[in-house]
Amino acid sequence: MIIRDVEFRGSAVEFSQYPTDNLPEILLSGRSNVGKSSFINSLLNRKNLAHTSSRPGKTQTLNFFLINNEFYFVDVPGYGYARVSKTEREKFGGIIENYFINRTNLKLVILLVDFRHEPSADDVIMYDYLKSYDIPCLVVATKSDKVSKNQHPKHLKVIKRALNIVEGDLFVPYSSETKHNIDVIYDILEQVI
Ligand code: GTP
Ligand code: MG
Repeated sequence: MIIRDVEFRGSAVEFSQYPTDNLPEILLSGRSNVGKSSFINSLLNRKNLAHTSSRPGKTQTLNFFLINNEFYFVDVPGYGYARVSKTEREKFGGIIENYFINRTNLKLVILLVDFRHEPSADDVIMYDYLKSYDIPCLVVATKSDKVSKNQHPKHLKVIKRALNIVEGDLFVPYSSETKHNIDVIYDILEQVI
């Protein structure tokens, strides 16, 4: 995949504000601070197009990035961020759920988990949820640069077991810093759009 053109097409909360051009959409999901916005920037080769921060809760709305006039990346707020109020969380949970169920041009959810740690209960719930609705899903275990190479097999095993990743599921370790495995991810994107 060659990224020729990237355009920020706006932030949205409600369905009525989403793009209406009916292009394929790929949504980033994962807990707050796992690296969703960094993942988008690294894939698109842009510094801070999707805003990142070391403080969780940076992304607050659905943000639509149009790639090559062909498809969208949708950057969303992460889950499991305690400092967001319960009402806020529930409101946003509802918006995302509505998106998952009703957005027919959703082609793929990329679920980001942290390569360093066993997936959280929320990660497991999210992956089970996506599978139960038959939503195509790619699990990316990011921040792999923070784990020494000889520990990689162990971490892969822990993540696979916790999420119950089976033959045929899409699962790729990745680093937004080193872009290790970026070609594998580009190939998967090409296949779904
Ligand atoms: P929210 O918008 O709050 O949900 O967070 P997010 O999931 O978008 O995370 P973000 O991309 O803002 O990254 C959080 C922090 O992790 C930042 O300090 C990033 O620089 C760092 N980070 C993200 N990906 C990687 C990676 O692959 N390797 C390393 N070393 N750091 C990373
Ligand atoms: Mg973000």
